[in-house]
Amino acid sequence: MSETYPSIPADLDAVTDDEAAKLLAALAAAIAYHDNAYHGADTPEISDADYDALVRANQAVEARFPNLRRSDSPSMRVGAAPSGQFAKIKHIVPMLSLSNAFSEDDVFEFSARIRRFLALDDAKPIAFTAEPKIDGLSISLRYEHGELKQAATRGDGAEGEDVTANIRTISDIPHHLTGTPPKIVEVRGEIYMDKADFAVLNAKQETNGGKIFANPRNAAAGSLRQKDPEVTRQRPLRFFAYASGDVSEMPSNTHDGFLAALRSWGFSVNPLSQLCSSADELISAYHAIADARPNLPYDIDGVVYKVNDYAYQARLGQVSRAPRWAIAHKFPAEQAETTLEAIDIQVGRTGALTPVARLSPVLVGGVIVSNATLHNEDEIMRLDARVGDRVIIQRAGDVIPQIVRSLSEKRAADLPKYTFPDKCPICGSDAIRPDGEAVKRCTGGFSCTAQQLERLKHFVSRDALDIDGLGSKQIELFHELGWLADPADIFTLTNRKDELLALDRMGEKSVENLIEAIRARRDIALERLIFGLGIRQIGQATAKLLAQRYGSLEDLMTACIAASDASSDAYAELLAIDQIGAGVIADLIRFFNDPANQAAITALLAEVNPIPPDAPAEDSSVSGKVIVFTGTLSKMSRSEAKAQAERLGARVSGSVSGKTDYLVAGADAGSKAQKAASLGVTILSEDEWLQLTR
Ligand code: IVH
Repeated sequence: MSETYPSIPADLDAVTDDEAAKLLAALAAAIAYHDNAYHGADTPEISDADYDALVRANQAVEARFPNLRRSDSPSMRVGAAPSGQFAKIKHIVPMLSLSNAFSEDDVFEFSARIRRFLALDDAKPIAFTAEPKIDGLSISLRYEHGELKQAATRGDGAEGEDVTANIRTISDIPHHLTGTPPKIVEVRGEIYMDKADFAVLNAKQETNGGKIFANPRNAAAGSLRQKDPEVTRQRPLRFFAYASGDVSEMPSNTHDGFLAALRSWGFSVNPLSQLCSSADELISAYHAIADARPNLPYDIDGVVYKVNDYAYQARLGQVSRAPRWAIAHKFPAEQAETTLEAIDIQVGRTGALTPVARLSPVLVGGVIVSNATLHNEDEIMRLDARVGDRVIIQRAGDVIPQIVRSLSEKRAADLPKYTFPDKCPICGSDAIRPDGEAVKRCTGGFSCTAQQLERLKHFVSRDALDIDGLGSKQIELFHELGWLADPADIFTLTNRKDELLALDRMGEKSVENLIEAIRARRDIALERLIFGLGIRQIGQATAKLLAQRYGSLEDLMTACIAASDASSDAYAELLAIDQIGAGVIADLIRFFNDPANQAAITALLAEVNPIPPDAPAEDSSVSGKVIVFTGTLSKMSRSEAKAQAERLGARVSGSVSGKTDYLVAGADAGSKAQKAASLGVTILSEDEWLQLTR
């Protein structure tokens, strides 16, 4: 399965409905498989770029065949964890979706339909609210006696997933309501991420070799559906409340009254929400919100209109899965025409060649766009994009603009087809694209200056060497000056005091601090060093496992060289490491067998003194046991508890299964404790755990 990628025909217009349906099924299966490998088993088998290519292929087929979109479409759950990871929760009041209006006529028809349905006479006004449609994911929060009890995703509308532990880490969501809420109230709203926070998160993910999210919505979804709530806590998620679910006693007869109550209980309610008394006023509100859109810190993709009076809402009811009393007036995707001036090829840390479209600057939805992504070679072929073409670009929810099509009808007859380079544009090494992969890569390794630079930046990044005063800017400068090529060169900067002092804005003190910070990092945790090498697919977690298993970089390198023979013991040993699969091993073998990499590592080992991780105790009371922590611990943080368990040789997991030995339940332990009890897993209190591990 991991080796098979559904192949996408270059011309989707030539594909029949039957073929498209098969393609969508194959893509859904492949994406679900890799979602599980990534999130569930934590052993990705394909690169993020390849995964993204699958997701994009699915989007392209869905865009061409919207009526064939599957109910389990991956585009509805990008970044989603596999089902089964979270317990299921039935919604007492189903979570509905909204029908769409795309034009002003649709809005007038919406209002007229409602008036007809309610048999209102012409003189009788009807009030609506108009609210921004937040581009995030919806959530239902259940409060009993003012206390947050449970949080569930929308799921299929009837049944969602229990994400309570993760939701509790979001600072916008109150744990206790203020004011006088009803005994039971389910508050519904949207979890989202600000655009600026999204950009920072992606930059961090990039340095850490983590998953890059396509847009803030996917980042929010991926951040919420984490096995470990501590990961969610690190993600800047926010929340706007806008609806109710199961409520023992409504605080108001109107929606705007309910929004006011939500504010009084401590929720953020979108400040642009307003009351309107006619379809004309809805349209004005739409334009006002559309005008505000470019300056909002978060993405919105339309305006939601709702009948204000709850008695009317009840009478109107719903058709299939959407209420009659509400509609989403969608913004058109923002498009513009411009010229494709050039196609630049960027070379990433692992050698991936990524084409970037350079455009004549053009205003799209309040933002000047001069670059667009072209993803990869196939995408350029699909668009038949040629340098000099007039192109239509689009900024939808996505932050990175895309080319939608090339206007071949406006093209000069002699404009040549674009040919994707076979050589790395930076170092001239061969660029190769393995069968079935979407990405072409430079084979130059450490000898390619572009890869060198990106690897150096990664090497000093926060989760790797983390050298104070040595960020991307300095690395670029020192690399440009010819002082840095290999990671080992970082340590020779300490011999360049005079040259450093001669640089702009480098005073005596800052040079001394930099030199001291570099010296201090000669003693470096082995796992940071392994992570810092920037090997494909080797994130922090895998680096740690390798550090624990091999104890030194020399031993790891020797093992990976020996493992080139798949029938060797060395290979079997790598495969035996929990959570490491064949794909990761292939990348390790490729990396450590490269002579340039070997030379760089030898040079590096002459400069640093790697500190192996503390060996897990063999004979502790919990060695080899699988532990799950849940609820709030009072005597130590979750991270500390985890670290302690691992030190004692236990394996800490995020979810309860038949393999779990102990569930350590702190305060407010929820569904995990129930699940553990039902599986007969031993449940320990925090104190019992401390006694066991003392
Ligand atoms: S009301 C029955 N209000 O849009 C109505 N939804 O396409 C329930 N959304 O699943 C939804 N902003 O995730 C409502 N101000 C808003 C919204 C909003 C975003 C989302 C929500 C819903 C989807 C429907």
